[in-house]
Amino acid sequence: MSISTNTRRHRTPDQILGPYFPTGHTPVPQADLTSVNGIDGLARGEIIEVTGKILNLDGEPVRGVPVTIWQANTFGRYVHANDPNPAPLDPHFVGCIGIRSDDDGIYRIKTVKPGAYPAGLDWMRPPHIHFEVHGRFERLITQMYFPDEPLNACDRLLNAALRPDLLIAKPVPSEGGSGHRVLNFDIVLVRG
Ligand SMILES: [Fe+2]
Repeated sequence: MSISTNTRRHRTPDQILGPYFPTGHTPVPQADLTSVNGIDGLARGEIIEVTGKILNLDGEPVRGVPVTIWQANTFGRYVHANDPNPAPLDPHFVGCIGIRSDDDGIYRIKTVKPGAYPAGLDWMRPPHIHFEVHGRFERLITQMYFPDEPLNACDRLLNAALRPDLLIAKPVPSEGGSGHRVLNFDIVLVRG
């Protein structure tokens, strides 16, 4: 699909970094969060693929920029010492990866759908994936949400965004290959 340079786009809303950014750990340089190098076995949960394009407001691809991605495992637990959730860790799940957009601005990852987790006595965070994009002119930190999740409706962070709809990934029609659910999440910077 060609992208008109006249298409008016909106910058992807910022979201907070959150308490479980894995400070002190180097993101693993691979696009697959479901398999830990050197350990046999796959992460538990629904395996999905997430793909999208990093763009600027003019619809131009933002090429070759670092993207850090981190999330909870299928049980809703982060690989982070501060996470108080008693849900189990998954020895086969990679909690944080670092990749780059390609020459067309595209990224693609394989992961598991993260579990919901408690963020307070009366607040369950819906499934979401954290993204940090280091563009040449700007840094964007945000969170991607899943379509048709009942918890989206009352999530304080998602609904604090000016355009929550821009943070919800879109299903991609089956490509007939992997058999996994594929979701699209484009990320729009101002200049890139
Ligand atoms: Fe989170």
